[in-house]
Amino acid sequence: MGDYKAIASFLKENTKYEPKIGIICGSGLSELSKTMTDTQTFPYSSIPSFPKSTVAGHKGELVFGLLSGVQAVCLRGRFHSYEGYPQDLCALPVRVMRCLGVKMVIITNAAGGLDPNNNVGDIICVDDHFALPNMAGKNCLVGPNDSELGPRFPPMSNAYDPELSKLVVKASENLGFQDFVRKQGTYCFVSGPMYESPSEALFLRSVGGTAVGMSTVPEVVAAHHSGMQVLCLSLITNKVMMKGDKGPHASHEEVLEAVNARTVQIQALVKEVVKISRKY
Ligand code: 6GU
Repeated sequence: MGDYKAIASFLKENTKYEPKIGIICGSGLSELSKTMTDTQTFPYSSIPSFPKSTVAGHKGELVFGLLSGVQAVCLRGRFHSYEGYPQDLCALPVRVMRCLGVKMVIITNAAGGLDPNNNVGDIICVDDHFALPNMAGKNCLVGPNDSELGPRFPPMSNAYDPELSKLVVKASENLGFQDFVRKQGTYCFVSGPMYESPSEALFLRSVGGTAVGMSTVPEVVAAHHSGMQVLCLSLITNKVMMKGDKGPHASHEEVLEAVNARTVQIQALVKEVVKISRKY
């Protein structure tokens, strides 16, 4: 857990950038960093003590550059619980970002849709989460508290910044994306790597879940704990199967296909949000 400072020092020594915005890209959403200009790329393997990511569809690079003219750092490829990483390791890149001076984190993910009113291709602006692993002690804040980062007992009732959600609404209007951008929703975090059974899916829907996925919440908890503003966008890539539903069972191929169909719009949305977030 202490490694985040050493990693941040290494990066500070090797880049001219002082990013204020951090971006964490979900499965197949890494192309966002290609729309950054004047980039400087660090493969994870070139950064001392940085972990490696192991999933197909996830690159392993940290990219510095300008996004909509704003200094940003983008994580192409994240660390998931299902890869066997401890929670504090999943949170490590966020803590590195915090040390680099990042104030606002934008997190994207691919997720299964639990709400029958939502469609594949919808983008949910997440305003809450439900995380059974967290509640059962599997989260990055368990253990000694690093008070340089944040408090022992942080609230999670305000983890997702309402001002940033307003920017998403504005940005989606500017771009004409209102038909598929949803203003709010609850992201359910499961450890994976298997997709939900029908009963598990029913359970998550019954607690108000809108989307379900295997990422994001570890990073959100670390970011909010250390005082960063958080924006999370979930792309619905498949409808979660309930008992009696017909149709294809969830697969990674289906997820990546749905991501590819929306990758241009989600990139445009993130860029527009950054553009109109003038205070940075
Ligand atoms: Cl259906 N479930 C989970 N846990 N993660 C997903 C997903 C479903 N679809 C995309 N990611």
